[in-house]
Amino acid sequence: MELEIKNLTKQYNKGKIGLADFSVSIGKGILGLLGPNGAGKSTLLKIIASISKPTGGTIFVNGENIIKNPNAIRKILGYLPQDFGVYPNLNAYEFLTYMAALKGIGGHGLKKRIEILLDGVNLTADAKRPIGSYSGGMKQRVGIAQALLNDPKVLIFDEPTVGLDPEERVRFRQLISEMANNAIVILSSHIVSDIETIADEVAIMKNGMLIDKGSPAAITKKMEGKVFETSIPHAELDGFRSKHLVTDMSKQPDHINLRYISDTSHGNANIKGVNPGLEDAYLYLTQKQY
Ligand SMILES: Nc1ncnc2c1ncn2[C@@H]1O[C@H](COP(=O)(O)OP(=O)(O)OP(=O)(O)O)[C@@H](O)[C@H]1O
Ligand SMILES: [Mg+2]
Repeated sequence: MELEIKNLTKQYNKGKIGLADFSVSIGKGILGLLGPNGAGKSTLLKIIASISKPTGGTIFVNGENIIKNPNAIRKILGYLPQDFGVYPNLNAYEFLTYMAALKGIGGHGLKKRIEILLDGVNLTADAKRPIGSYSGGMKQRVGIAQALLNDPKVLIFDEPTVGLDPEERVRFRQLISEMANNAIVILSSHIVSDIETIADEVAIMKNGMLIDKGSPAAITKKMEGKVFETSIPHAELDGFRSKHLVTDMSKQPDHINLRYISDTSHGNANIKGVNPGLEDAYLYLTQKQY
């Protein structure tokens, strides 16, 4: 499987830019798409899912141009949109059966498939009551299950872990790792920790552009020697933040502990160099001026 995105541009009405000459090549495995609000993540995912047209550029899936021939992606796609809505009167079992029918999935394996998916998203016990009575996180899990109905070869989840509690996040990761064999999986988030442990590769976006792409370890490594911890009096916080990118802080009664990024160490006994994390790299890359 290979997804080749070339010079993709999306210009919305009134001159708003969704994507600006975006190119990337995506292979089998899990790609985490990270970027702040408005970076263009959903714009990109909608175009890949063929529910939105770009204003320029092309996408090839295994050599086939899916902008010209959207059916080539639709039949192998599983998609959870960011604004996924469900029918409140159906229960989870009925909803998945309904979605299967829309996707043209049937046969005697279907019932079993739905049961496995309901179990995978931990909804078996609630499968027979109306979705309208579910919590937000439970509805999101119905959305995750419907994306997996057709054993997709390209699987797109736009902010899948929004609303999931920590236990369900772990379950989601397991499900994806099990279900996503031999598939291209793209997960978007603006929360680094959601992506970090599950993604084989991370692509970082900002202002409709690709800023960096690589394994979490490779991207993190670029920050070596640049991340420090120190503590300062409360009164110095504003001044400190105007000079350095602070990536974490904890306020104590008489001082503030800070984690920050700097290109140089200052040789101060109160400053300690620390191992970088993906979160440091993400904040550094997305807050740098381009
Ligand atoms: N239908 C639309 N009409 C006009 N502008 C739009 C439309 N959809 C998105 N945009 C703009 O395109 C840019 C990218 O939006 P997009 O929704 O792709 O970002 P995102 O990375 O998914 O953000 P979020 O993290 O908030 O979901 C933003 O500036 C947004 O305002
Ligand atoms: Mg979005």
